[in-house]
Amino acid sequence: MNTSSLCFINERINSTIQSLIEQVTEQMFTGNSDHFHVLAVANILNQIDRFGALGATGDSDALYEIHKALYHVNEMEVAHPTPQGHKYQFNPIFLSIRSRLEHWADSYENARRPANLKNLGVNETLAEIINIWKTHNSANHPIFEYVRTEATKEAVLEYLKSDYLLNIRFYDLVVYSLVGIDERVRFEVAHNLWDEVGQGDLAKTHVQLYRDLLKSEGINANLKSMSEHLSWQGLAGYNLMMRHGLHKELYFESLGSLAVTELADPEQYKKFVEGCRRVGVGANNAGGLAYYEEHISVDVIHGEGWLENVIRPLLESYPESSHLMLWGVYQRLNTAKDYWDELLGRLKRIDAHQHEKSIGVIA
Ligand SMILES: [Fe+2]
Ligand SMILES: [Fe+2]
Repeated sequence: MNTSSLCFINERINSTIQSLIEQVTEQMFTGNSDHFHVLAVANILNQIDRFGALGATGDSDALYEIHKALYHVNEMEVAHPTPQGHKYQFNPIFLSIRSRLEHWADSYENARRPANLKNLGVNETLAEIINIWKTHNSANHPIFEYVRTEATKEAVLEYLKSDYLLNIRFYDLVVYSLVGIDERVRFEVAHNLWDEVGQGDLAKTHVQLYRDLLKSEGINANLKSMSEHLSWQGLAGYNLMMRHGLHKELYFESLGSLAVTELADPEQYKKFVEGCRRVGVGANNAGGLAYYEEHISVDVIHGEGWLENVIRPLLESYPESSHLMLWGVYQRLNTAKDYWDELLGRLKRIDAHQHEKSIGVIA
């Protein structure tokens, strides 16, 4: 097996459902017959249900089909606007496809919803968010210790490629969480957004810092090539956060999900930075590991800010949202655990391959 095939999650880059969606959207875009739409959409919805039901049994190929297609649909929502862009965003056909994919993604997550989630008081909810984060089986995930102490440079670079899409999309997720929100909490979210855009310095936007780091390692970061490094688990985490951002009815779940992301990042990133330094990742980058160092420092502030300045006032206004926020925390951590488990396995496979090469087991 060559190294590149170890890095790619699925040899079949274009999923079946994704290809079908592309055909339909192409037809819609060029204004061809409605008759084609009806037949093609019925076929897509059938395929989605077939893969969705299989995915519910844990079939990873089927889960990849669902999440790759949903990723493809989600990306259209956040693509750069162009005069030609996304003309069918609110087309009922397109919405029916999105909704079917989301149904299966949601039902997979809902199957592991804790049965005992209930509304707690304001202080108790805040404490429970911390408690879930600290005691969840994703806490202190071994992938970060592995990167810190053992991973080869090639494995660390694979981690960077795999993390690309969610990292560069975080800006859009923060934007989604600003639309229409309570005026009392706007400043905190806006502050978060201001940090995402480098506080006005184009060279220091978080997207740019991440791209610079990849570029310094000779990685040409573009959406298509980087999406090939996402497992179904990575796509599921990405799609979860997009779902939380896109749907107003999931707003309170998104607050829990975003809060725990900010809380968890600094400790993990400290280990990650140590691992990068150990193998020399970032050594050729003018900004070094600025992306990660920035998040180690600002996410401590963001985490505290989300809890005190966003979640607390909203809980005071909507005490019935407590269980939704807690469920959002669980969803984010559950998908993160799946993602890290798979990614750790992949890094170890890459390292085993490197080791075999170094001792001459393989040519
Ligand atoms: Fe960021
Ligand atoms: Fe942050």
